[in-house]
Amino acid sequence: MRLLAIETSCDETGVSLVDVDVESRAGTILADELASQAALHAEYGGVYPTLAKREHQKALPLLLERVMRGYDATSVSAIAVTHGPGLEPALWTGIEFAKSLAHEWGKLIVPVNHMEGHIYSALLKREENSKFTILNPNYPAVALLISGGHTDITLITGEGEPACRTDRYEYLGSTRDDAVGEAFDKVARMLALGYPGGPLISKLAQEARDSNLPPLEQSLPRPMLKSGDFDFSFSGLKTAVLYHIKRATESGHVLTEDEQRQVAREFEDAAADVLASKVAAAAAEHGAQTLIIGGGVAANSHINTRIKEQFAREHLDIAVYTPGKGLAGDNALMIAIAGAFRAERGEYLTEGEELRAHGTLRL
Ligand code: KG4
Ligand code: ZN
Repeated sequence: MRLLAIETSCDETGVSLVDVDVESRAGTILADELASQAALHAEYGGVYPTLAKREHQKALPLLLERVMRGYDATSVSAIAVTHGPGLEPALWTGIEFAKSLAHEWGKLIVPVNHMEGHIYSALLKREENSKFTILNPNYPAVALLISGGHTDITLITGEGEPACRTDRYEYLGSTRDDAVGEAFDKVARMLALGYPGGPLISKLAQEARDSNLPPLEQSLPRPMLKSGDFDFSFSGLKTAVLYHIKRATESGHVLTEDEQRQVAREFEDAAADVLASKVAAAAAEHGAQTLIIGGGVAANSHINTRIKEQFAREHLDIAVYTPGKGLAGDNALMIAIAGAFRAERGEYLTEGEELRAHGTLRL
């Protein structure tokens, strides 16, 4: 089937046209467009919802025009659109756009959960010539979904039967305050590095490791490491960084680049320690055969390596899947694939059913 997919949950506008054969778990990317607003939001140090909405509205028609170049609307089987979770004003723009297209083209809509998209992005293997395959993981699987809005550990029992909308996911834990990506962004802001903070912090942390800088005199906390559940808290870690910076700059001292690198490394290590230890405990307790790491923070190779090391240390023989290059952050390709699996099961929006933006939609 041929899916037109639309993603507008945060600050990336994504539109893609993808052929997916669910049965053989393979497909072809016909077109995949992404417009990032990150530079515009940089001055706010985070995503500014009204601005995001306006930019999505501007970008959607342009991206659609590019994606459909050379393809006829009649060849499209259905329209997949993200309906949550995310920023509601941003989600609405994609939903309204999808609705009017569906009306104009006479197509059905498949609502897609953004986090399910992130799961599929870790299963996607790009081949040559725009071809791809979709890995078929062994279940049960545990998903660690880490982004600017989420830090969730979810148990996945299988891929789902017809019309089974939710019962294959079971939440094991999540953050009680900030998401891990949000903490990266806030720490980057404290260090005046820019937005999004994840890649910037990670680069500095790596430089600290490469040049063997000494550790901070006082290490940062590993919040909830021993809480005995699968929940997280990153707000205390972020505050500990703030206090560290305040103490270090009290006398008018300005952090040197090396001091910034030391903070970045200690922060990244603390976040990685907690993520690795919790996800390993969850995988062990639930007999997981696969770990799927998804979301923007899954682009962080230090965190992924730290998790694999933890599994090895605990003799957990579990396959670990992470998104390929350029697939960790938000994109419409992952929405097309998640949408194709749902469409195959007949999970279209039915007549009379209203499509709404769900900022806190769960899997
Ligand atoms: O999934 P995503 O693109 O958007 C949301 O759905 O939130 O994730 C964005 C988040 C941002 O907080 C960004 O700083 C973080 O992912 N991020 C990273 C890295 N690349 C992006 N965090 C840590 N390390 C990275 N390399
Ligand atoms: Zn995301």
